Amino acid sequence: MKILVTGGAGFIGSHVVDLFLKDGHNVTILDNLSTGKRENVPKGVRLVEMDICHRDVDRLFAEGQFDVVNHHAAQIDVRKSVSDPIFDARVNILGSLNLLECALRHGVKKFQFASTGGALYGEQDYFPADEEHPIRPLSPYGICKFTVERYMFYYQQVHGLEYVAHRYANVYGPRQNPHGEAGVVAIFCDRLISGREAVINGDGKQTRDYVYVEDVARANLLTLDKSLNGAVNIGTSIETDVNAVFQILNQAGNFGAPEVHAPAKKGEQMRSVINWSKAHELLGWKPQMNLDDGLKRTLEFFQR
Ligand SMILES: NC(=O)c1ccc[n+]([C@@H]2O[C@H](COP(=O)([O-])OP(=O)(O)OC[C@H]3O[C@@H](n4cnc5c(N)ncnc54)[C@H](O)[C@@H]3O)[C@@H](O)[C@H]2O)c1
Repeated sequence: MKILVTGGAGFIGSHVVDLFLKDGHNVTILDNLSTGKRENVPKGVRLVEMDICHRDVDRLFAEGQFDVVNHHAAQIDVRKSVSDPIFDARVNILGSLNLLECALRHGVKKFQFASTGGALYGEQDYFPADEEHPIRPLSPYGICKFTVERYMFYYQQVHGLEYVAHRYANVYGPRQNPHGEAGVVAIFCDRLISGREAVINGDGKQTRDYVYVEDVARANLLTLDKSLNGAVNIGTSIETDVNAVFQILNQAGNFGAPEVHAPAKKGEQMRSVINWSKAHELLGWKPQMNLDDGLKRTLEFFQR
């Protein structure tokens, strides 16, 4: 298939690209390299350096005649979405809408979207949250993700464009950017290796559902030829607190670093964990990497 991967020079998108290539697909990457890196783009793959909001995206679609759009490009910083919700909406809503309109004009058959579990469900009523859990985003970032899900529903119902929203848990693994606000695993790896303090916000008892990036990429491969037209959680259903993540990394690398805490970040979600049984039922997907091994692999990547 001819597939356009937006954000393919970034963390998750680049792993998706690797897997699509391995499966024999013809991949083009659209990325403005704002957080992505050229070195994440495999040799021989076309990288179009452009903003997803730009009107020339239409020309790329006209030339490319893509079968599938896999949309990972985004403003991913939740705190930035709070401080600048207009920029966030411009990239995450209007940019996505630009791609959907191009997809419609140029005969794309399927639209795959990187959505979020944690940021959509908000403080959960029950654990782990399935796809039927009430949607209560507590950030502009989460609102944008859900808005795009609604747009995809509309494009499917009214125009017949197939779609899937992968609602990711907290994705971690090699190539994650350690210099942003997101991605505690990458940040801890970077700090521990360079001998700086890996500071834990608050008491560190806030929990997340950590899913390995290759498991996430595999979900993208599995939905290429399935008609889902809906949302599917991609997580592990296992809650792990930040203290435990710190300790596993600290021990795996023999760093002997002290546990350092800073005041809690205001408004930080306390618990987040999602149920993956729908992905298993519809796709046969399940998470394969356990946290200890995944963290070790990630640490090794950053030590290289
Ligand atoms: N990392 C997670 O835990 C997580 C969880 C849920 C959802 N997601 C979603 O997965 C996707 C990928 O996230 P990531 O963690 O790999 O982040 P990332 O920052 O590594 O990847 C985003 C990519 O998009 C590109 N990009 C950003 N704005 C762009 C624009 N306007 N035009 C073109 N390209 C642009 C960046 O250069 C980068 O390569 C995002 O949509 C994110 O919201 C991530």
